[in-house]
Amino acid sequence: MRYVIGIDLGTSAVKVLLVNKEGEVEHAVAKNYPLIQEHPGYNEQNPEEWVDKTLQALRQLVTESGVNPAEIAGLSYSGQMHGLVLLDERQQLIRPAILWNDTRTTEQCEEIKTVLGDKLLTITKNQALEGFTLPKILWVKEHEPASFKRSTVFLLPKDYLRFRMTGRLHSEYSDAAGTLLLDVVNKKWSSEICQAFDLPVTLCPSLVDSGAYIGTLLPEIAKITGLSSSTKVFAGGADNACGAIGAGILSAGKALCSIGTSGVFLSFEENKQRNFAGKVHFFNHSQEDSYYTMGVTLAAGYSLSWFKNTFAENDSFDQLLDEAAKVPIGSNGLLFAPYLVGERTPYVDAKIRGTFTGIDGSHKKEHFVRAVMEGIVFSINDTVDIFKANGKNVDTIISIGGGAKNDLWLQMQADIFNGTVISLANEQGPGMGAAMLAASSLKWFSSLKECAEHFIRFQKKFKPIQENVEKYKTLYQIYKKVYTQTKDINYQLFPFREQ
Ligand code: XUL
Repeated sequence: MRYVIGIDLGTSAVKVLLVNKEGEVEHAVAKNYPLIQEHPGYNEQNPEEWVDKTLQALRQLVTESGVNPAEIAGLSYSGQMHGLVLLDERQQLIRPAILWNDTRTTEQCEEIKTVLGDKLLTITKNQALEGFTLPKILWVKEHEPASFKRSTVFLLPKDYLRFRMTGRLHSEYSDAAGTLLLDVVNKKWSSEICQAFDLPVTLCPSLVDSGAYIGTLLPEIAKITGLSSSTKVFAGGADNACGAIGAGILSAGKALCSIGTSGVFLSFEENKQRNFAGKVHFFNHSQEDSYYTMGVTLAAGYSLSWFKNTFAENDSFDQLLDEAAKVPIGSNGLLFAPYLVGERTPYVDAKIRGTFTGIDGSHKKEHFVRAVMEGIVFSINDTVDIFKANGKNVDTIISIGGGAKNDLWLQMQADIFNGTVISLANEQGPGMGAAMLAASSLKWFSSLKECAEHFIRFQKKFKPIQENVEKYKTLYQIYKKVYTQTKDINYQLFPFREQ
């Protein structure tokens, strides 16, 4: 058998990859689905739409690739994290899923902090954020008590998809880590947290490792997709964990910078007792008994696309970036803070907003573009700073996402992070990590690490240029003042924003 499939259940689309034994993508199909946004701050999706679109994508993958389904040995999943899916005793959906980017749960986060105090960090190693799952459960309990009463189990997005494809209910550690219900170090649901909020522990699905064999496809799913009913299904992982696998972040000293809509800086964590006091997320990895820590810039690539859509609609990204490359470091005194939708790391602040500081009559579009790019990387560097302050070595960074597609971006990352930045050839995102979980669980390789060595090819290497490093160090110190010095102004402006 020669192929595996990686299914990446994202926020705007599902992407399925057919991968051969050399780690090459033979075929890929993506299908979009919408967000349901009934009120400001609400972000929901219909889980059945995930299922429909995934099955359509798989059917198309099988048909268009022309491979013999019997040659597809296994599949696994990567999924958007934190989303809440509730099922009743007949294992039917109770309501739409509430997603990671839904921000209705500020009050529930306050409640969690008050009720659990320090225990929250001790048990879950994370702080209460609107995006995480427990606040969503508490919101449903409070605002939709009838729905809550009918709930017998909750699932995370890709766990629901896997349940519908195999008939088996499970969660796995890398996604469970983002719920605020997992005892992260001891790898079990926290009965203490469940009790504190009067939640039955049975609401939490049974836990397995990301590489665990779950079963085969249900016959009706095999029929709809054209896949063989003997294709083996493995549990899969959270999208950030799978993104890390796909970039080979599987041992100490390895770090990843992903500039997509949001920006993630993620580092393998060899010491599960290390205490970041909740400043960065601390999650179980999809490699057995491993961990990673990460910080998030909410509006990374989003800041650049916002700028383009608002002020430079007719320019291509390539044109904009080529022009920005001609502007010197520091954008001629123009500084951008990318807090367009609030910020997560290091501030956890939903009300802060972005700024351009130092606008001069001589500034042109290219100065603004460069300032936006620099501001995004400064913001990601806040996470790098936290890692370094806690004794982590961050000297080699794999760069993925839109930020890895341009040399100016890549050199900027190397200079601002002051580390070597490497891009990947034929980067495929978290779906590749999912495919690698299937490949290694099928024992094509002795370990995920061996699979990564075989599958991952590096493309370009950018070393920090000392002169640039020094200039950026000075600029970053100035950038760090923007948050504290504009916070009050932004809070005063908050009531004037259209809600
Ligand atoms: C991670 C997070 C996002 C989602 C997006 O904490 O909220 O990266 O996983 O899918």
